[in-house]
Amino acid sequence: MRIEKCEDKCNECMLCVRDCVTGVWRNVGGKAQPVDVDLCNRCSHCIAVCPCNAIIHDGLKKEEISGVNRKNLSPDVYRDIIISRRSIRQFKKEPVPREIIERILDVARYAPTASNDQNVGYIAVTDKDLIEKVARNIFGRLSRLYDITKKGIGKLFVNHTGLFKNRYLRVMNYVQEQNAQNGRDFILHDAPVLILIHAPRGKPFASDNCNIAATTIINYAHALGLGTCFIGLMTIVLKFSEKLRKELGVPKGRRVYAVLVMGYPAYRYANTVSRKKADVQWL
Ligand SMILES: Cc1cc2nc3c(=O)[nH]c(=O)nc-3n(C[C@H](O)[C@H](O)[C@H](O)COP(=O)(O)O)c2cc1C
Repeated sequence: MRIEKCEDKCNECMLCVRDCVTGVWRNVGGKAQPVDVDLCNRCSHCIAVCPCNAIIHDGLKKEEISGVNRKNLSPDVYRDIIISRRSIRQFKKEPVPREIIERILDVARYAPTASNDQNVGYIAVTDKDLIEKVARNIFGRLSRLYDITKKGIGKLFVNHTGLFKNRYLRVMNYVQEQNAQNGRDFILHDAPVLILIHAPRGKPFASDNCNIAATTIINYAHALGLGTCFIGLMTIVLKFSEKLRKELGVPKGRRVYAVLVMGYPAYRYANTVSRKKADVQWL
């Protein structure tokens, strides 16, 4: 990797040295110099911080880097995006154009990853038949588990352990009824898009990287007029079902750490919501 400085452009402001956390850029006799380029994790900070465009870095796509438009950074707009986003579980039949999904996944590239690993991958499913098949598969598993708790030793177990009070168990009767009566999909909410977010299995911060990307997606999608919902249930099922992982093309050595559904909301929320106060200890 080649990292160099254009001496004629550099004003020796040392921002690259102050900002570089990997130890590539250092102060050598009062001048900013790239000392050990192999340490670079390609975070782009040196280029992003340099006010003189004095840095040449052949490990980065320079054409992707542009000036920051501070006028667009509105805290009020951002706050409204965060607090007005809801988990959407009722979607219009309308499919989401591929360009829109691409645009959303493109923004998620800018979410932070530990050590700038950029190791998050996506599986975007728009095949409605496949989405429905997956939903039926997960619902079937859940239903079978629930049925076990209704009789014999299963019933004894949930009564003895107090599991019978569990919210999810208590609602299962209704979920089964609704599914039988009108085919309501309580698993993937009849969504037109399913997104699996994966990273190297067991790699430190793999789950964090995926879930930060997922959070970026849900907020940007909301700003674009789309609705999303995390499907933690499917993340769990994928952990245990190799068959489902294969069917959905999850690459070997990688694990799905977040699942989202996405589509155009069937209706809008007129109001924001109530939440617990932030639990903060001030020291
Ligand atoms: C990690 C995670 C897993 C979730 N799993 C599911 C799920 O399997 N099915 C579902 O309908 N909603 C799921 N949700 C959505 C939550 O129920 C929802 O975020 C919460 O009730 C708050 O509502 P809001 O997102 O509209 O603010 C999940 C949310 C998170 C953060």
